[in-house]
Amino acid sequence: MTKPLEGIKIIDFTHVQAGPACTQLLAWFGADVIKVERPGSGDVTRNQLRDIPDADALYFTMLNSNKKSLTLDTKKPEGKEVLEKLIRESDVLVENFGPGALDRMGFSWERLNELNPKMIVASVKGFSDGHHYDDLKVYENVAQCAGGAASTTGFWDGPPTISAAALGDSNTGMHLAIGILTALLGRDKTGKGQKVAVSMQDSVLNLCRVKLRDQQRLERVGYLEEYPQYPHGEFGDVVPRGGNAGGGGQPGWVLKCKGWETDSNAYIYFTIQGHAWEPICKALGKPEWIDDPAYKTAEARQPHIFEIFKTIEAWLADKTKFEAVDILRKFDIPCAPVLTMKELANDPSLRASGTIVEVPHKKRGSYLTVGSPIKFSDMKPEVTASPLLGEHTDEVLASLGYSKQEIFNLREVKAV
Ligand code: COA
Repeated sequence: MTKPLEGIKIIDFTHVQAGPACTQLLAWFGADVIKVERPGSGDVTRNQLRDIPDADALYFTMLNSNKKSLTLDTKKPEGKEVLEKLIRESDVLVENFGPGALDRMGFSWERLNELNPKMIVASVKGFSDGHHYDDLKVYENVAQCAGGAASTTGFWDGPPTISAAALGDSNTGMHLAIGILTALLGRDKTGKGQKVAVSMQDSVLNLCRVKLRDQQRLERVGYLEEYPQYPHGEFGDVVPRGGNAGGGGQPGWVLKCKGWETDSNAYIYFTIQGHAWEPICKALGKPEWIDDPAYKTAEARQPHIFEIFKTIEAWLADKTKFEAVDILRKFDIPCAPVLTMKELANDPSLRASGTIVEVPHKKRGSYLTVGSPIKFSDMKPEVTASPLLGEHTDEVLASLGYSKQEIFNLREVKAV
C-alpha cells in the first residue's frame, strides 16, 4: 500500500518528546525519517528510566518508531559536511534544540535556506521568537504553567496542578506536524520551503482556549455560572480552578462507584447535559425530578448540583463503573468509566483499532505503544520498532554516495 508521505525525506534532529512525537507521526504516514543522533550517546531518552539494562528505554522506543538512526557529530567539520549533503536532498528538517543551538552549530535558517531553498525547517521552542522568555529551555511542566493549563487545573483550595497528558510535549509535536504538512502543500504551489515554528507555550494555550473565554466572561459579569464556586462561593478577578467541572458549560463531576473505598479508580465521569435531564431522571429512578421546578432547568439545578451528584452516587453505590456505564448508555447519557493504564493496555477495542499496538524490538522483545490515533479509510499506519543507535548509519551514508573507505574514515575521526 502506498503511504501518502512516501518520498518525503525528513532530517529528524529532535530529542526528548515534543519533536520526536511529530516526526514519529510523519513516519507512520510514510515519510522517510532519519533521526540524527550524537555518536555514542544519542537521544537522551534512550537511557532515561530504563527497565531493562542495556536496552533502549520505553521513553525512546515509544516516540521513535518507524525511523532510521544515523549517528553524526554535527559539530565536527566532517559531520557538518555529511549533514550538508543530507540537507541538499531532504524535504524537511525538524529540530527541538534549546534556543540558538542550531545557529551555534552553523545551521541558521538563512544557511539552511541557502543550502536547500525548497526545504521546510520546522522548530519547537519553549516560547515563540521575540517573546520575553525566548531564551529559556523548556520541558513539559514548564510549558503547562506558562500556557495557562496549570493555573486553571486542580481544585480551588489546592495549588496549580499539572496534567499527566503531555500538553506541552506531544501536543506541541502535533501542532508542528500540522505546520509541516501545510508548508509541504504550500511548497507544491510556490516551489519554496519555509520556516515553521511552534512554541510549547502557544500550543498549551491553544488547548486552554475556553479558559480565555472564561476570563473575559468573568471580567464582564463577575461570576462563572458553570463553576462549582457558583452561586455560593466567591470569585476573584482571574479564572479559578474548577476541580472536575466540565469546561464547556455542561455540569459534570467524577462520581464514586462500587468499590471506591479500596480501588482509587472506581469512578465514572457523569455529565448532566441539558437535553439528557429527562433520561437521567428515568435512569436514576427519580421521575418526580423531571417536572419539579427545583430540578427542571440547568439554572434551577446549579445551586444544589452537589446534592444531585450525591444522589447519583447513592444510585452508583452498588454498581461497578462498568455496570453503571452499561446502564446509562441505554439512556443516551454522556458518561465514561475512569480507565486505568492497565485497563487501556488490555482493552480489546483499542487493540483491534491499532490504537494500542505490540511492537517487536531487536533487544527488548516486544513492547506496547500507542499507535496512530488518526484512522484512514485507505491506509492502516503500521508501527515498526524504533532503531538502535546508529542502526542505519552505513545505509544512509551509502545512499549519500559515501564509499566503504570514506565511511571507515568518518568513523576513525568519530564523526559518525
Ligand atoms: N552532534 C553534535 N552536537 C549535538 C548534536 C549532534 N548530533 N545534537 C545536539 N548537539 C548539541 C547541540 O548543538 C547543543 O550544543 P550547544 O548548546 O553547545 O550549542 C547541545 O547538544 C545541547 O542541546 P540542547 O537542545 O540545548 O540540549 P539540553 O539537554 O541542554 O536541553 C531541552 C534540552 C529539551 C530543554 C532543550 O533542547 C529545549 O529547550 N528545547 C526546546 C523545547 C523543547 O523541545 N523541550 C522539550 C520538550 S520534550
